[in-house]
Amino acid sequence: MEHAIDEVAPAVEPTANYMTRTHCDPHEDMFALREKGSLVRILGDAPTQLGKGYVWQALGYDVVRKILGDHENFTTRPRLTEAEAQRTTNGEDVPMAPHFVGQISTYDPPEHTRLRRMLTPEFTVRRIRRLEPAIQELIDDHLDEMEAEGPHADLQGLFADPVGGGVLCELLGIPRDDRAEFIRRIRRNVDISRGFKARAADSAAFNRYLDSLITRQRKDPDEGFIGMLVREHGENVTDEELKGLCTALLLGGVETVAGMIGFGVLALLDEPEQKDLVFEGPENVDRVVAELLRYLSPVQQPNPRMAIRDVVVDGKLIKAGDYVLCSILMANRDEALTPNPNVLDAKRASVSDVAFGHGIHYCVGAAVARTVLRMAYRTLWRRFPGLALAVPVEEVKLRNAFIDCPDRLPVTW
Ligand code: HEM
Repeated sequence: MEHAIDEVAPAVEPTANYMTRTHCDPHEDMFALREKGSLVRILGDAPTQLGKGYVWQALGYDVVRKILGDHENFTTRPRLTEAEAQRTTNGEDVPMAPHFVGQISTYDPPEHTRLRRMLTPEFTVRRIRRLEPAIQELIDDHLDEMEAEGPHADLQGLFADPVGGGVLCELLGIPRDDRAEFIRRIRRNVDISRGFKARAADSAAFNRYLDSLITRQRKDPDEGFIGMLVREHGENVTDEELKGLCTALLLGGVETVAGMIGFGVLALLDEPEQKDLVFEGPENVDRVVAELLRYLSPVQQPNPRMAIRDVVVDGKLIKAGDYVLCSILMANRDEALTPNPNVLDAKRASVSDVAFGHGIHYCVGAAVARTVLRMAYRTLWRRFPGLALAVPVEEVKLRNAFIDCPDRLPVTW
């Protein structure tokens, strides 16, 4: 078999700009890194708790898609010790660490398949349609609040963040009175600038709240997501799994939707022609949403993948225990996916991008996210046709979180 072996191909030291962005675009250092290959071995501070193996960075569309789609050879399951990693590479069953129970994105088949089958019916088009009036009400209410602040306001804080959080609360069936506190805790939980200890304390409080919610739903299930799961699968799902599933949805859904609302507005304010398409028929708004997701890819890097056995990808030998980080952003900005990938062009032919991932962990909330984004952009520009940035674009700072999005988005109208 012909392939380059690691010792022959020395690892690349990423620059300080590794995984950063210049507003909507990847930093030019990321493009320079890709010049070295679609899959490179890297040294230095990889943004994950890594085990014993080498760390690889995938940057090309074909390689990223291949690895995300290959659950036979790669796992997302976090290994806490080298011994556990070794046992899994040997094919032994290792129990999930308690704080990951129910966190579907870290499960492998067959357990992943079992949980995913429970979730999927909650995300059908029919169920999402049922949510639409509540989503529209949320959007309208928060635009009213923004308008009251005007004619200058922080669109991220007053509109994008509360709508992202509100939609997930609506979906899960979190009582209205609890929502503000609940969303505040989720946001603090993902704010990586706060440090591990402070986030752990919030996470404990958040867990206590979910415990009480699940106890109530077991006794008297309502029409929300938790109530439905209890009614339809109550016997087959433990309380810990239910809690993990709720956490996965909240962590996966709140910041992503909030981030994409603000980030999408930022990109469209820079490209007025693309923005005008939002009003030219329902197909066009769908194309704008799809292109924004490809172009911005707010989940820049999903869960790291660990090789379960030796596997050759792109001519490189990835050994059992090695980790691969996949850059969704760089994959979606690859000529192998679409011509002129660094241009925002909603009229381009539709593409199979990886903004929502690929393979068994493909985003379960993709259809909900698209629905919210479509409604948010359309309503925003219908109500504020003269919307503009209130500061030069260079002054818009990105948030220090797992998901890329503006920290504040000062706008005027
Ligand atoms: C613009 C919005 C969103 C983006 C860009 C996004 C992106 C992603 C990506 C890239 C993955 C794959 C992760 C991986 O392979 O490791 C994923 C998985 C997931 N997302 Fe989303 N997401 C969004 C919205 C949502 C929403 C609204 C929800 C919940 C309602 C959600 C829940 C999840 C869950 C539970 C998974 C794990 C699925 C599994 O492992 O089977 N996401 N998302």
